[in-house]
Amino acid sequence: MIIVKIGGSVFSDKGGEPENLDEKTVRQIARQVGEAYLRGEDFLIVHGGGSFGHPQARRYRIRDGLAECPEVKRIGFSETHRAMLRANDRIVKIFLDEGLPAFSVSTSSIFITRNGEVVHGDVEVIRKLIERRFIPVLFGDVSVDLAKGIDILSGDQIITYLARTLKPEKVIFLMDVDGIYDRNPREPGSRLLDELTGEEIEHLLESSEAAGVDVTGGIGNKLREALKIARYSEVWFVNGKVPERLLGAIKGGAIGTKIVWDPSR
Ligand code: IPE
Repeated sequence: MIIVKIGGSVFSDKGGEPENLDEKTVRQIARQVGEAYLRGEDFLIVHGGGSFGHPQARRYRIRDGLAECPEVKRIGFSETHRAMLRANDRIVKIFLDEGLPAFSVSTSSIFITRNGEVVHGDVEVIRKLIERRFIPVLFGDVSVDLAKGIDILSGDQIITYLARTLKPEKVIFLMDVDGIYDRNPREPGSRLLDELTGEEIEHLLESSEAAGVDVTGGIGNKLREALKIARYSEVWFVNGKVPERLLGAIKGGAIGTKIVWDPSR
């Protein structure tokens, strides 16, 4: 089984109009998934918030919890979830149009968090759907939170939980750049890192923190999660905007970054 995360900046322009969706990109991702699915591979898809969930989550300050103005927060919680359902519906529709049995599963219905960390997840439905050859499609979502009342649960975090419980062969993160770079990929002279060990990831995170900025382009959280996942599964970061890169990672020889688990650590 392979888990694919479609990052929010892959299927939408986060700086653009609210709720914009790059249908062409989602379609080529669905086609690549389809090619491997028809050869017998099982898939689980998780997508991010992009131009759908993030504006609502910011507007209602969902991450601050339920304490202040709970009446407004409760409305915002539901509105943020609805925005994610709209993204999910459009993505699932494209997969169905390609003849793939994508099936929507709401993250907020099966996960509970405490301060944003998953403390409970009911993955039995997902396991059974995959056994029956469905392609479950989950997403970054709002969450019921035991400490703050409510919170946001990112797609990356649920992937760590799903990897630990479902033990996929591979987890592939689709991004809008070619993989992980030694510094901000928009900076001249930056170099794509084709393999990264746990030690190198820690070094990369330390040097970006020391510089006082997230020079890896907001990738720190993803890398920390990837390090946890690498214990169970092969982890790849590839460009979701470029056709065939996902298939390359599925087959094992993509342009991108492969995370290498170092068992001696
Ligand atoms: C965010 O999910 C979900 C909401 C804002 C509701 P992610 O953190 O997985 O989204 P992206 O990939 O960064 O857009």
